[in-house]
Amino acid sequence: MAHDTYLTGITTTGTPHIGNYVGAIRPGIAASKNLSTQHFYFLADYHSLAKNEDPGKISQSTLEIAAAWLALGLDTEHAYFYRQSDIPEITELTWILTGMTAKGLMNRAHSYKAAVQANVDNGNKDPDKGISLALYSYPILMAADILMFKSTKVPVGQDQKQHVEMVRDIAQRFNHHYGETFVLPEAVIGEDTAVLKGLDGRKMSKSYNNTIPLFADEKRLRKLVMKIKTNSLEPGEPKETKDSTLFDMYKAFATPEETRRIEKLYAEGIAWGEMKQTLFDYINEHIKPARDEYEKLIADPAIVEAKLVRGAERAREIAVPFLEEIREAIGIRKLGA
Ligand code: TRP
Repeated sequence: MAHDTYLTGITTTGTPHIGNYVGAIRPGIAASKNLSTQHFYFLADYHSLAKNEDPGKISQSTLEIAAAWLALGLDTEHAYFYRQSDIPEITELTWILTGMTAKGLMNRAHSYKAAVQANVDNGNKDPDKGISLALYSYPILMAADILMFKSTKVPVGQDQKQHVEMVRDIAQRFNHHYGETFVLPEAVIGEDTAVLKGLDGRKMSKSYNNTIPLFADEKRLRKLVMKIKTNSLEPGEPKETKDSTLFDMYKAFATPEETRRIEKLYAEGIAWGEMKQTLFDYINEHIKPARDEYEKLIADPAIVEAKLVRGAERAREIAVPFLEEIREAIGIRKLGA
C-alpha cells in the first residue's frame, strides 16, 4: 500500500493561541515524527485574502505562525513546511480547477453560506453584501493545495470537512474529464484532539476574541488565566471537572497522573484562585523553552524566512513537474512538440 500523505494549511489571520496548539500544532508535529508517512504543513496566506485583512496583519501572522511551528520543534527536513504564495503552481492550478468546479457546488460551501446567513441575520438587503469571490471560491484554492501534493489525508477541524469533500468532487470530475490525474483525499477529523474552550467558556477562537496566545509573556499569561470563567462555588465546596475550562486546559497539557491529582483536588474543593495559579504555573513551565525560542525567531525573521524559502524549494520539486503534466492533460501545451 502506498504511504499516506498528510497535508494541512493554516490561514494566516491571527496569533497562534493555546487552542491552535492543542488542536493542530502539537498533533501535527507529533505526527510528522512518523518517518513512514509524508507531511505537508503550509501557511495559507492567499486564503487570508478572502476576508480582506490588513496587509500588516497578514505578514505578522505569517511570521508568528511559522515561528510557532519552528519553535515547537517541527522537523522541516522531513515535513514540508512552506508558504502557499511561494508556490505559484498552486495558484495556477486553482484556475485550472475552476474550470472543473460547478458553480452550484460553491453555492453550497459552508464558508460562503455562513457569510450569507450573517448578512440575512443582520437585516442586509443584499445577502451577498461584502462577500468577495475569493471567499466564495475558497474551496477551489483549497483543492489546489491538496491535490498538488497528492494528499491522501487532510487533518482539519469539523468546519472544514465539507470543503475537503468538495475537493474530492472537483478531483473526480477532473479525472473523469481529462483522465486519472488526481488522488482523492480524505478529511481526518481529530476526535481525540481536544477542542479547548476560551476565557468565556465558548470554543477558543479568534472570532470570539476569547483566546490565550500560546506565547503570551509570563505576565500576560497569568493575567489571562486569572480571567478564565468559573462558577461561583466557594473554596472547600467540591467541584465538578465536567465543563470546567480550567480543568480541560490543565488536562490538555498534563500527563494522566497529574490530571488524576487535579481531579482529586476538585473533589476536595480546591479554591478557584488556587486552581488558576496551578494552571498558570503548569502552562508557563511547559511552554517556557519553546517561548524563548519563539521570541528569538520573532526578533530575527530572516531565520524563519530562510526556512520557508527552503521549504518552498523542496515543495516545488514536486509541484513544477506535476503542473507540467496537468497542463499537458488539459491541452495547454507547446505547439509542434
Ligand atoms: N481553509 C482552512 C482553514 O481555514 C485552511 C486551509 C487552506 C487548508 N488550505 C488547506 C486546510 C488545505 C487543509 C488543507 O482552516
